Amino acid sequence: MSHRSPVRTDRKVSVLVLIAVGALLSGCGRTTTAPAEDEAGDDAAAIEPEPATLSFGERRARREHGRQLYVAECSGCHGERGLGDGPAAEAIDPKPRNLVREPFKFRSTASRKPPVHADIVETISRGMPGSAMPAFEFLTEEERGLLAEHVMYLARIDTAPVSELMPIGAETPATNDSVERGHAVYKRLECHMCHGEDGHGDGPSAPTLKDEQGRKIEARDFRLGLFRRGRTAAELYRTFETGIDGTSMPSYSGNYTNAEAWDLARYILSLPTAPAAPPTDAVAHGRQIVEEKQCFACHVIEGRGGVVGPSLDVSAKKLRFDWIKTFLEDPRAAGAIYPFRPYRMPDLGLEADEIEAVLALLAEVAGREYPEAPEPVPAIDPDVAAAGTLFYVIKCAECHNLGSVIPTPLAKQQGPDLINVSQRLRFDWIADWVANPLSVYPGTAMVDTNLTDEEIEGVRAFLWKTSTEAASH
Ligand code: HEC
Ligand code: HEC
Ligand code: HEC
Ligand code: HEC
Repeated sequence: MSHRSPVRTDRKVSVLVLIAVGALLSGCGRTTTAPAEDEAGDDAAAIEPEPATLSFGERRARREHGRQLYVAECSGCHGERGLGDGPAAEAIDPKPRNLVREPFKFRSTASRKPPVHADIVETISRGMPGSAMPAFEFLTEEERGLLAEHVMYLARIDTAPVSELMPIGAETPATNDSVERGHAVYKRLECHMCHGEDGHGDGPSAPTLKDEQGRKIEARDFRLGLFRRGRTAAELYRTFETGIDGTSMPSYSGNYTNAEAWDLARYILSLPTAPAAPPTDAVAHGRQIVEEKQCFACHVIEGRGGVVGPSLDVSAKKLRFDWIKTFLEDPRAAGAIYPFRPYRMPDLGLEADEIEAVLALLAEVAGREYPEAPEPVPAIDPDVAAAGTLFYVIKCAECHNLGSVIPTPLAKQQGPDLINVSQRLRFDWIADWVANPLSVYPGTAMVDTNLTDEEIEGVRAFLWKTSTEAASH
């Protein structure tokens, strides 16, 4: 494979290279800045689909932006063409929607009609609680609008306004007997056949339910308190008004008065939910979070899961806990980590205690203590680091950026920027990794560079020193 790189891989270049590196090092700086969050659009009253007045060029740029966002945020599950066949699909149930062929469950339009732009923006913003579909509230409104447009493009839905909207009636005042009347409507319309007498999702028809693809589905257990469309009376009303297309849940439009529909929603919301208290054991709590947030859709953890993101069994051994904590607090702050991965980590909005529990689980997986004693600050011998510089340039720079110290213009299998190693990685791990990447992470694109232990020590010292200096600037 040929590519243009300023770095030749024979040792004759040493003198020239060292001069060049020296020049670069003197201008050392930290360049991995987070992409600025553009919050500007967030005040907009509503997210509108593509305006009709755009020029051809503007329209094309806009669509390309939407497509790129979709690839990074959605294609890991929904597949690049929206066929529901991304690399995470295997690991999760319910399956990611085939946006091209399967109907949309949550619309403000009549049964069997396509959703409107605003419906899809809502789904993207809220996510689908109880499924792997994350909430993308952390993206700007403009980005969510573009994503919804791309979904409509994939699903071949016209973005022009439609006339099949099914408005729900104005909310009626709740009275003392609202819930009781709602319960009566629930029985009259035979919701219990699927959802059960007490809303546990265990009605007589429940065991036989399948979706239109023939996959087994569950009538929602209202006692879990998780509603894919959101947990408000208006959203529930909209759901039994429009039905959940693609499943056995029909539209009940016309079978109740407006007041009855509000009362029915209030009845469902009145059912007590018993959220199990999180386990007191932190590792067990961590496992529960991995289940709830479906981390395994994208990551291998404890030996199972998808390949959208890196194996957490490997990352648990390689990363500093303080780095993981900062990352999970705001996964987007540091910019993209692995350039060869087309996907990004969603901000799952983990709470502080949830992050602690995940860290405890990762420690268990890696055989580390948590909390553990602070990583010792390695003493770097400047001569060893200086000797390592050349090996870095010859053996590593072709695939790794080092901030602006040694940029890699064109890499075939580019690895992470190494300017952050001293904040991100464990010192000991680096040597094990460089000595034998394939035994640390089978299948990795990082190659064995055939360095001696001493040379590796030099490279690591050079990296650590450069990274520490960049961080203190
Ligand atoms: C981790 C996997 C995952 C990711 C990432 C993901 N989705 Fe989903 N998505 C799902 C699953 C699973 C469902 C189906 C849930 C269900 O049927 O209850 C779904 C359903 C949907 C639906 C159908 C909604 C309906 O009314 O039926 C849309 C639209 C959608 N996703 C869009 C997106 C977009 C846009 C993105 C990126 C911004 C995205 N998804 C990212 C897993 C994912
Ligand atoms: C034939 C079976 C069946 C009947 C009858 C039925 N449902 Fe459902 N319902 C389902 C299934 C299946 C789902 C889950 C669909 C999915 O998201 O995959 C569901 C989901 C729901 C949800 C969850 C929506 C969300 O946001 O997650 C609500 C609320 C609901 N049903 C209310 C009702 C009410 C009220 C009635 C009676 C008027 C009713 N259902 C009758 C099968 C049924
Ligand atoms: C939709 C897919 C997806 C889901 C769900 C997901 N992640 Fe990630 N995660 C990624 C991707 C992709 C990356 C790599 C990001 C990059 O290269 O910028 C990542 C990176 C990480 C990293 C950094 C690893 C490293 O080696 O740098 C950690 C830690 C992590 N995820 C933890 C979690 C946890 C914990 C959960 C569940 C609570 C989770 N992830 C859920 C896709 C996902
Ligand atoms: C052929 C390209 C290639 C070469 C040459 C290469 N690497 Fe890598 N390196 C990678 C890739 C790709 C990854 C990401 C591996 C993964 O997670 O699967 C990586 C990961 C790393 C990591 C972990 C970085 C992180 O933040 O997660 C370190 C450290 C590293 N390499 C050091 C080196 C050193 C030191 C050398 C030279 C001795 C080197 N690499 C040579 C491709 C390369």
